[in-house]
Amino acid sequence: MYPLIRPLLFQLDPETAHRVTFTGLRLAQRLGIPVAPKPAEKPVKVMGLTFPNPVGLAAGLDKNGEYIDALAALGFGFLEIGTVTPRPQPGNPKPRLFRLPTAQAIINRMGFNNQGVAYLLEQVKNADYRGILGINIGKNAATPIQNAAEDYQTALSAVYPHASYITINISSPNTSHLRELQAGDAIGQLLAGLKATQTRLADQHGRYVPLAIKIAPDLDDNAIRHLADQLRLHRMDAVIATNTTLSRTGVEHLPHAEETGGLSGAPLTALSTHVIRQLAQALAGELPIIGAGGILNARDAQEKQAAGAQLVQLYTGLIYRGSSLIKECSDALAG
Ligand SMILES: Cc1cc2nc3c(=O)[nH]c(=O)nc-3n(C[C@H](O)[C@H](O)[C@H](O)COP(=O)(O)O)c2cc1C
Repeated sequence: MYPLIRPLLFQLDPETAHRVTFTGLRLAQRLGIPVAPKPAEKPVKVMGLTFPNPVGLAAGLDKNGEYIDALAALGFGFLEIGTVTPRPQPGNPKPRLFRLPTAQAIINRMGFNNQGVAYLLEQVKNADYRGILGINIGKNAATPIQNAAEDYQTALSAVYPHASYITINISSPNTSHLRELQAGDAIGQLLAGLKATQTRLADQHGRYVPLAIKIAPDLDDNAIRHLADQLRLHRMDAVIATNTTLSRTGVEHLPHAEETGGLSGAPLTALSTHVIRQLAQALAGELPIIGAGGILNARDAQEKQAAGAQLVQLYTGLIYRGSSLIKECSDALAG
């Protein structure tokens, strides 16, 4: 049905289309109307958790956790909500979301618009979903980058009892200086602090919640190796590769290509797969990889798996292909 609805949605501005789609899906789910064929069970064990299938929702689509049950009904093996910051913030001025349909791509500079961690946790508590829930955390725009660790610690402590795993987002291109946390001494300091907090929280709550670090595709091979060394040293539980790219290769002459922000979708596919392959080599199996970036069909998902990803996540592919992409990818992946 999505190919029929899509031209209508694409008449709307992208943020309105997003709201209309997910409010509609939520209504359908509450009325018990089935909206998507369920993928077959294909359990995969990663980070000590058993995922019913390897295809998840990538962060950013449900930043406030307002559509958890509706998204679960689409057949995802896991959901990642957020990015949430400690305090609410409006994000960047609109327009901040752009479609590049001929390239099956999106550019966004949302800037972590979200209602804050307390609001998100209310939504989580009100949801019926009992499947695997990742909560993706970030820093507030107003927090200076040298104090970023404090925001991550605050958000980590707040979401810890409610998450199956927690993602540390240090790779959004839309929060100034954020990506600097991936490099040099900054990454080691950040990860050491997060590990210490995780250990303390595991004691306090009697439950170990894995930490995944989400990285950018715009890292050269040396930077990837350095990052991989730090992830191993500080015993992180997984890495998510990748976020959106600053590159415009392949879309140079298209309308909106000049907009500031991160590019996702088909032009990102090969770049993120390259990062996954480099990471897999550098990590030598010590940490699992969750692959994201330009998965538009089953073959893209298989290539992520062949490059070393144990799980995959979708975002832009859902906008262009609809929810049938979930089952298509899950069916194509080895369990
Ligand atoms: C509109 C939009 C908003 C996003 N917001 C977030 C976010 O808040 N946190 C995050 O970690 N990634 C965010 N992402 C990145 C996606 O989770 C994903 O890593 C990236 O888009 C690559 O996958 P894709 O090509 O399948 O979209 C966002 C992506 C888009 C398109």
